Amino acid sequence: MQGLILAGGLATRLRPLTMVTNKHLLPVYDKPMIYYPIEAMQKAGIKEVLLTTGGESIAQFANLLKSGEEFGMCMYYGVQSNPKGGIADAIALAEEFTHDEPLCVILGDNIFDYNLKPAVEAFEKQKVGAKVFGIHMKMDAKQYGVIEVDDTGKVLSIEEKPEHPKSDIAQTGIYMYDQKVFEYIKKLSPSARGELEVTDLNNMYLKDGNLTCEIIDWWVDAGTSYDELLRANNQVAEKMKKGLV
Ligand code: G1P
Repeated sequence: MQGLILAGGLATRLRPLTMVTNKHLLPVYDKPMIYYPIEAMQKAGIKEVLLTTGGESIAQFANLLKSGEEFGMCMYYGVQSNPKGGIADAIALAEEFTHDEPLCVILGDNIFDYNLKPAVEAFEKQKVGAKVFGIHMKMDAKQYGVIEVDDTGKVLSIEEKPEHPKSDIAQTGIYMYDQKVFEYIKKLSPSARGELEVTDLNNMYLKDGNLTCEIIDWWVDAGTSYDELLRANNQVAEKMKKGLV
């Protein structure tokens, strides 16, 4: 399985912190934010990772992460020229890179310590379909995709920022896809906010009956607000002191 980490976007909600710094380089306790998804891929045994970001930030990521050797992986860098294109638009950048392997996508501001290795190994065997990772949480559903799932892990529905959520499961920024993903992305149209939505993409797999969901237990979407960034810092600090991460 190949890895893709999305580290683009304008992060206007975190200004002025992000006026001259890419948000994924901001600190979360003792590490830059981007280390968390990278270490998750490292733990999962993923050896080749493409990081996509805006052209103005590529050099900073390359200075920090270099060849990826420190993480036991090979890092590649890709320029995302449209910062407002959406998650599915950024996933399309990995088409050449994947060489027909399945793809694990993680948003660069997702902080979690869930071990993805069993899911990666199972997905490599399964070969077809897609998997999303969700979390039960009290949420403002207008900020997230909301997943309805049966007790075998099969997804029944995913709705993006619904008025009336059908469950308390938020869609995180961790996804696994087979090679069909690129064909599906080409069929997507921009949403009302002008983005190619990951939820529309996932709904294509759902329609084919090929979408499962795995529930994780701790996750912070650190790049969405000052409060979430602070919460990520505090929770990581607490977990570190208890020896949990
Ligand atoms: C995106 C997805 C949403 C998901 C969220 C997780 O939302 O569209 O389904 O729950 O990431 O971070 P966005 O942050 O683009 O509004």
